[in-house]
Amino acid sequence: MQGLNISGKSIIVTGGASGIGEATVRLAALAGAKVTIADLNVEAGVRLVKHLQEQGCAVQFIRTDISDEQQVQDMVALALKTFGRLDGAFNNAGVAGFNQSNLGADEPAKFSALPLDVYRRVQEVNVVGTFICMKHEIIAMLQTGGGAIVNTASFSGIFASPGAADYVASKHAVIGLTKSAALDYATQNIRVNAVLPGAIRTPMLDMVFKSDGRNKLLAAAHPNGRLGEPEEIAQAALWLLSDAASLITGISMSADGGLSMI
Ligand SMILES: NC(=O)c1ccc[n+]([C@@H]2O[C@H](COP(=O)([O-])OP(=O)(O)OC[C@H]3O[C@@H](n4cnc5c(N)ncnc54)[C@H](O)[C@@H]3O)[C@@H](O)[C@H]2O)c1
Repeated sequence: MQGLNISGKSIIVTGGASGIGEATVRLAALAGAKVTIADLNVEAGVRLVKHLQEQGCAVQFIRTDISDEQQVQDMVALALKTFGRLDGAFNNAGVAGFNQSNLGADEPAKFSALPLDVYRRVQEVNVVGTFICMKHEIIAMLQTGGGAIVNTASFSGIFASPGAADYVASKHAVIGLTKSAALDYATQNIRVNAVLPGAIRTPMLDMVFKSDGRNKLLAAAHPNGRLGEPEEIAQAALWLLSDAASLITGISMSADGGLSMI
C-alpha cells in the first residue's frame, strides 16, 4: 500500500470478516502484514482467508466472540504462535444499538423504551469486548517491547443521536478505554488510539438504514455529501497502527467527511 509501511507486522483485526474490518484485513495483508482475523462469522472469515492466501498473503482466521475472555486469550495466543509476536491490533468488532434499527421509523423508541437486556448486550460486546481484547493484546505487546492499538469508536462516541443511548454510551466508553490505556502505557512503547467513522457503507449500515432513501438523507447530512467507504476507515486505522504515527497516542481521529465539525 502506497505511503504505509506495515509490512511484516503481526496484527489482529476483530470483526475482520465484514465491512470496515474486512477492508482493513485486505489492505493490511496485501501490504505485507501478517494478519489474524477474528470474527463470529466463520463462513465469511474462512472465505476471506482462502482468497488472500491464494494471493500469497500471511493470514489466518479464528472464530472469536470478543465478549468471551477465554476466546480472546485464544485469539492472541494464536497470533503469537503463528507469527511470533503481536505488533498491532484493530479492535473493530461491534454491534449496532437496538433503537438504531428503528431510525427509519417516524418516531424512534426513546431512552425509557430501551430494554435492559439489549442495553447490556451492546455494552457487553462494544465495551467489555473491546476492554478484554485490549487487555490481552497489551499483555502480549509488553512481552516484545511494545505495539499499537486502534479501537473503532464512532461519531456516536462524541455526539448523541436520537433513540440510540445504548450505542452512544458504548462508543463514548470506547474512547474512555482508549485514553486510559494510552496513558497507562505511554512510557512502554504502546500507543492506543481510536478511529471515529461517520456513516460508512457496510452491512451494518444497510441493516440499520434499510431503505436507499434513508441512505441518501444520511449522506446529505455529511458536509462532503456522501457516505464513507470501508477502505477509507481502513486507511486511517492502518496509518495509526503504522510507525508513521509514532508520536500519536490517546487521540480520537474522526474519519467522517466533516460530520464532527458541524
Ligand atoms: N458502518 C458505519 O456506518 C459505522 C459507523 C461508525 C462506527 N462503526 C463501527 O465500525 C465497526 C465495524 O462495523 P461495520 O460497519 O464494518 O459492521 P459489520 O456488521 O459489517 O461488521 C462487524 C463485524 O463484527 C463482527 N462481530 C459482531 N459481534 C462480534 C463479537 N461479539 N465478536 C466478534 N466479532 C463480532 C460481525 O460478525 C461482523 O463481521 C463497529 O464497531 C461499528 O460500531 C460503523
